[in-house]
Amino acid sequence: MRATAFLDIQPVRNGLGIVALKSFAPGAHICEIRGAVLTSDQVWDLWKDDPLAAANCFRLNAQQYISPRNMIGAYANHSCNPNVAVVALREWLVFKAIRPIERGCELTHDYATLLGDDDIWQMDCNCGEASCRATIARFSRLPHAVRRRYQAMGAIPDYILATLDSTPR
Ligand SMILES: C[S@@+](CC[C@H](N)C(=O)[O-])C[C@H]1O[C@@H](n2cnc3c(N)ncnc32)[C@H](O)[C@@H]1O
Ligand SMILES: [Zn+2]
Repeated sequence: MRATAFLDIQPVRNGLGIVALKSFAPGAHICEIRGAVLTSDQVWDLWKDDPLAAANCFRLNAQQYISPRNMIGAYANHSCNPNVAVVALREWLVFKAIRPIERGCELTHDYATLLGDDDIWQMDCNCGEASCRATIARFSRLPHAVRRRYQAMGAIPDYILATLDSTPR
């Protein structure tokens, strides 16, 4: 499956993943993440019917998620040392390069950047990075230095920050 002129879906370390067919400079908007827009209640229902599809949903705002079934976002793997951030742009989300990406590299983002305090999903990580956190959970569970770095680069959408309570963690 060819995802776009500049991206391909290929076997990678963790199943299928998105691979760059050209280089991207930091700050480049690489592609939109589109799909069916679901309410949080619809995502809860999806967990019962199709947990794999539910796990693939991207949080779009306080109340809505994108289900990228059969679209490029369905192949976006996590890394604890990611090369893209997910940013909100108009009505969709966009993959934005956060460091130079060479042709042939897999695009990965940090799933924690889209998990608010009201998201309970977790995953055992197999990214293979030296900085791997082993368990991927909500944003507020990130080490403080990682939180600060992501916030400084604008990699945490406001609607995720808005879910944080004021209790020190
Ligand atoms: C959006 S899909 C990505 C495409 C998936 N690799 C495939 O082959 O269909 C997300 C799923 O991929 C797997 N995955 C992604 N990143 C991973 C990682 N760093 N460690 C372990 N599994 C990962 C998990 O099963 C996760 O729920
Ligand atoms: Zn990891």
